Amino acid sequence: MDKKELINCGKVKSVYNSTNDDEVIIEFRDDMTAGDGERKEVMNNKGAYNAIISSKIFKVLEENGIETQFIDLPEPNVMIAKKLEMIPIEVIVRNIATGSLIRKYPIADGKRLNPPIVQMDYKDDEYHDPMLNDSIIKALGIATQEEIDILTEKALKINEVLTAFLKDAGIILVDFKVEFGKDKDGNILLGDEISPDGCRLWDSQTLDMLDKELFRKGKDSEVMDAYIEVYNRIIPDDEKVI
Ligand code: C5P
Repeated sequence: MDKKELINCGKVKSVYNSTNDDEVIIEFRDDMTAGDGERKEVMNNKGAYNAIISSKIFKVLEENGIETQFIDLPEPNVMIAKKLEMIPIEVIVRNIATGSLIRKYPIADGKRLNPPIVQMDYKDDEYHDPMLNDSIIKALGIATQEEIDILTEKALKINEVLTAFLKDAGIILVDFKVEFGKDKDGNILLGDEISPDGCRLWDSQTLDMLDKELFRKGKDSEVMDAYIEVYNRIIPDDEKVI
């Protein structure tokens, strides 16, 4: 698992080339950011909790026929993954209306969305991740119609599997963001991470927030307890490494 060179330093993860050309090494750092990276704090062990949660979710998705880039988690905050050429689209699935949806559209906070909304945003901080539509995606040359359809289908399948998995842990999957990439054969795989950083997760009983929304709202002191709560609920004791 020798790291060769840093190929991408994102807001919370660093991606390194591996000695195996088909793989990358992803280090989950302890950084937490909000507002296109304008606010940044360091949270103790956050990288490890997110890497473990994300690995578990990717394994569950694989068991349900959704291909991901996950290969292994050799250290609590280090993932070995298939190398992908990432598609610069944030695919967001919403089961309950909240967040930017209710700020932009006349829709009630907390309204259940059935069928779920699938939204695609352009992943670009400089442009503040503007929402896309099929014509814009094709005009920008980001993806073909066939690929857009694959992203939509995969995102909805992920939503189905993840909603059921989290329900068993007493968690409501309100909404989430996923990113995809192409492997060396051109197959579209789920990449990046699925963790409390990119999901809205509510406790089924109390509706308490268990995700990064706490940080966005300035409740910094509650953030790690929420992430650890998600970890404790979805990671079986014999798989707990921290
Ligand atoms: O802010 P908004 O309501 O659009 O967020 C929808 C979902 O997408 C939330 O779960 C949020 O965590 C996630 N998201 C993200 N990264 C972004 C934008 C949204 O993970 N850049």
